[in-house]
Amino acid sequence: MKRIAVLTSGGDAPGMNAAVRAVVRRGESLGMEVFGIINGFEGLVNGEIHRLKVADVGGILSRGGTILFSARYPEFKKKESQLIAKEQLSKYDIEGLVVIGGDGSLRGAEALSQLGVPSVGIPGTIDNDIAGTNYTLGFDTTLNTVIKAIDRIRDTAGSHGRVLVVEVMGRNAGDIAIWSGLSGGAESILIPEAPYDLGEIITSLKNGFKKGKNLGLIILAEGVMTADKLIEKINDIDNSFDIRGVVLGHIQRGGSPTIRDRVLGSGFGVKAAELLNEGASGECVALVNEKFISNSFDDVFNKLQHNAYIHLYKINQFIN
Ligand code: ADP
Ligand code: F6P
Repeated sequence: MKRIAVLTSGGDAPGMNAAVRAVVRRGESLGMEVFGIINGFEGLVNGEIHRLKVADVGGILSRGGTILFSARYPEFKKKESQLIAKEQLSKYDIEGLVVIGGDGSLRGAEALSQLGVPSVGIPGTIDNDIAGTNYTLGFDTTLNTVIKAIDRIRDTAGSHGRVLVVEVMGRNAGDIAIWSGLSGGAESILIPEAPYDLGEIITSLKNGFKKGKNLGLIILAEGVMTADKLIEKINDIDNSFDIRGVVLGHIQRGGSPTIRDRVLGSGFGVKAAELLNEGASGECVALVNEKFISNSFDDVFNKLQHNAYIHLYKINQFIN
């Protein structure tokens, strides 16, 4: 393979730049020319394709976001858009594509692979919701951002004897909530994957105050409901709490990647370039037991389960 391209798509994630850099550097070291596609699948369809050299990816390891920009482009679900994308790549004699993004982006890569465009995916999303890998790119940085916010929130909540509901991202996955809830000492963690019991949540808050705590912390995954809604539901049953909600929002997605995400992005990028060079297609790179491997898209979407959270979720029940 002589020419490959790389794009970032969907929600940006810290560490995407490390992955782009690694694709370029490993690609060149394998004798390939690497191209960067601007604005994800939308840019691919519009032909925003540029040569990326090693010098173009210098000094980006520490930068959050993505230097290639990203886009949500629902039109790419249509076969006609995918065929235009294939055509654009062939105009540049590009024989392989690395797609860095979350579940939707990887489905776009799978579609291209099925149309005969050798494509591999890198799981880049803060949500940690891709099956077959222990971690997705960006998750660790997001957790570090969230825990800093929680520590601050605890200071103010504890000064006022308040209950704070902190709504975190994750789309339909609860991983951000579980990891940040456990590390932040939350009384309750609400995730989309498990039922919640308002009575239990209220009892655990009350027990905490009875035992001498001066605050209550609830970490709520956005996939369950909004912080406002949860506060309303708690107040409907028991309005004795001084309760506030915080929505952390996009602050969770930005920022300089942690060491872990820089290394993860680098390893993912190297593996992706090597896979294309070996003639692979329809594969998604992964980190399993600290080894960089790959899984077929079919396994990622249809066979493997992402359930790393279950064990951790139970820990919170034992300690609260
Ligand atoms: P993420 O990749 O972070 O999950 P999205 O779900 O928004 O974010 O997906 C990113 C982009 O991937 C979409 O805007 C669209 O261009 C493309 N995409 C999503 N789902 C599909 C699909 N089923 N087939 C082809 N392309 C898709
Ligand atoms: O997938 C990453 C993510 O940040 C989710 O956690 C969140 O639900 C969504 O993207 C937000 O998307 P947008 O930035 O388009 O509002």
